[in-house]
Amino acid sequence: MTSVTEPSRTKAVADPGHGEAFTDHMILMDWSETGGWTRPEVAPLEDFSVHPGMIGLHYGQVAFEGLKAHRRTDGSVAAFRPRDHARRFQRSTRRLAMPELPEQAFVDAIGLLLGLDQDSLSDDPAHSIYLRPLMFATDVSLMLRPSRTYRFALMAFVAGGFFGDDVETVNVWISHEHARAFPGGTGDVKIAGNYAPTFLAQRQAEAAGCQQAIWLDAEEHRYIEEMGGMNMFLVRGSGPGAEVVTPELTGTLLPGVTRDTVLKLAERLGYLPRTERVSLDQWRAECADGTVSEVFACGTAAVVTPVVGVRDTVGGDWTIGDGGAGPVSLALRRALVDLHHGELADPEGWLHVC
Ligand code: COI
Repeated sequence: MTSVTEPSRTKAVADPGHGEAFTDHMILMDWSETGGWTRPEVAPLEDFSVHPGMIGLHYGQVAFEGLKAHRRTDGSVAAFRPRDHARRFQRSTRRLAMPELPEQAFVDAIGLLLGLDQDSLSDDPAHSIYLRPLMFATDVSLMLRPSRTYRFALMAFVAGGFFGDDVETVNVWISHEHARAFPGGTGDVKIAGNYAPTFLAQRQAEAAGCQQAIWLDAEEHRYIEEMGGMNMFLVRGSGPGAEVVTPELTGTLLPGVTRDTVLKLAERLGYLPRTERVSLDQWRAECADGTVSEVFACGTAAVVTPVVGVRDTVGGDWTIGDGGAGPVSLALRRALVDLHHGELADPEGWLHVC
């Protein structure tokens, strides 16, 4: 494979959508039991060939991350919380009996790719560079065992809004039929195998006019956990002192980096951040009596997106608040976006300028 180090010649992308406006380069590293990790190789983003009998394709030894870099008002580009993503990536790969990529190697790879491809990002504050670190098992064997070789590939795309640039609020659909994760399983790590099983419910949600499915706990089908690709929050009250509540991490939810950021921003804005188990019945009742006034989805891709309606084929549909984006969700979204763009103090040092 040709090694290239010239900066990207791609011009800033005007209308990127989500997931297809790839930048020009990727960073590759390979791992073997004998040699450990190779040095990072910069390559043009292009096809590479894999054997059809590769373990990663058959048995799902595949983990990934998703993080973003934003253009700050001073023109620099900064990745958001790369070290936290590096550590979650390590947990995910450990869970699948894969090797860990050292935290510094992860952060350096991000810096290397952004150094080359950041000109793909325009000044439009609604756009970002979404970075996708991926690790997969490369041994050619259909024996059921962990691979002894792996490839790490870091790629990136320019991202607009996950739900579309014009979508400001979303509706969600309750998945009663299937479960996403179960105790002792893999719901709390970011692996490829957690996502394909959500696609059927996602289709059902879309057929019902919704943008995401809500997953309930697998044991009792009673507690709300997360959506197919993001965490969720409820808001009780409004103004200072409003409770900003997210389902607690029981081991079956993904510990989202954005979820954690929102909890901390909520405190900074004078709200009361809380984590607790919330049942579907409680959620419905608290919306009906006005206790819960807002709901929002959050994630690297989703940022903070207000949820305004729930479709529940078992218990009946309901509207959240007045059916529009609420002030607490919007204030948290603003704070998060300002933080990304270097317009809000960053005492935790979450921005990593590349
Ligand atoms: C993200 O929010 O970055 C995710 O990884 C969820 C999904 C779009 C894969």
